[in-house]
Amino acid sequence: QNAQRDFLATVAEKSDGAALRGDYTDITADYVVQQNWAAYTPEEHALWRKLYQRQAELLPGRACDEFIESLNALNASEGIPDFEATSKALFAATGWTIVAVPGLIPELAFFTHLANRRFPVTVWLRKPEEFDYIVEPDVFHDYFGHVPLLFNPIFAHHIQEYGKGGLKAMGLGGLDQLARLYWYTIEFGLVQSPQGLRAYGAGILSSGGELTYCLEPSSSRHIALDVERCMRTLYKIDSYQETYFVIRDFQQLFDDTAPDFTPLYARIKQQEPLPANTLLPNEVELVQG
Ligand code: PHE
Ligand code: FE
Repeated sequence: QNAQRDFLATVAEKSDGAALRGDYTDITADYVVQQNWAAYTPEEHALWRKLYQRQAELLPGRACDEFIESLNALNASEGIPDFEATSKALFAATGWTIVAVPGLIPELAFFTHLANRRFPVTVWLRKPEEFDYIVEPDVFHDYFGHVPLLFNPIFAHHIQEYGKGGLKAMGLGGLDQLARLYWYTIEFGLVQSPQGLRAYGAGILSSGGELTYCLEPSSSRHIALDVERCMRTLYKIDSYQETYFVIRDFQQLFDDTAPDFTPLYARIKQQEPLPANTLLPNEVELVQG
């Protein structure tokens, strides 16, 4: 209970005293709530359909194949999905489930869920006036953006390892570094497919504007993922990314993050973080503007 109060105080402070979005009254010790699917209104389901449709039209040629295939299999186009049905299918595929949460949750709870193959999905949906942009993750971002790739065995395993790595980083003072890696891969990552660059990051895949922007040659930097370099790089949360890190495939992401990060955290902490638009002398831009 104390930890919960601390968390709520921290979030309230971070957002300039604005109330934390979401209803935290009935949380369990690990911040889980009931999805209460029957309580979604027809207007909310209609807004979901609009969000889904706009995004689905943009996916071909922009999202990686693994994402598109799994999304289609989810049959989630007609309204906000029932998490229980999704969990059943997901558990059968990769041993993951999704759990309903009221909104942002503390790091310890978040990492613990991931380490146990549970993905936290926010229950509330944005307001119509937030159609194009929302600061906090809602059910559309969490579900549409993150859930499909949990059906991919390698990616799903990677997210579990990330959760374990988060618990470990908490004891090493490595959370800032690890958060940058999460941001530039799981949220805003691109992959070099045989047909060209494709998005696999949830923040891109759930955004109408950035899914188009991030692939434009003249947009931002595109550079090959180097884990240590990525963990040194600051990011912007209120604009499109200035740098996109590109992987060859999910196996690379898994393999490159498998080594013990302890020495990396120690090394990175002694250096100045890099601005989001950095290009180091030895780096090559993969896309020429
Ligand atoms: N290998 C990292 C460590 O030892 C943990 C990790 C795995 C982090 C996967 C991110 C992704 O701390
Ligand atoms: Fe996310």
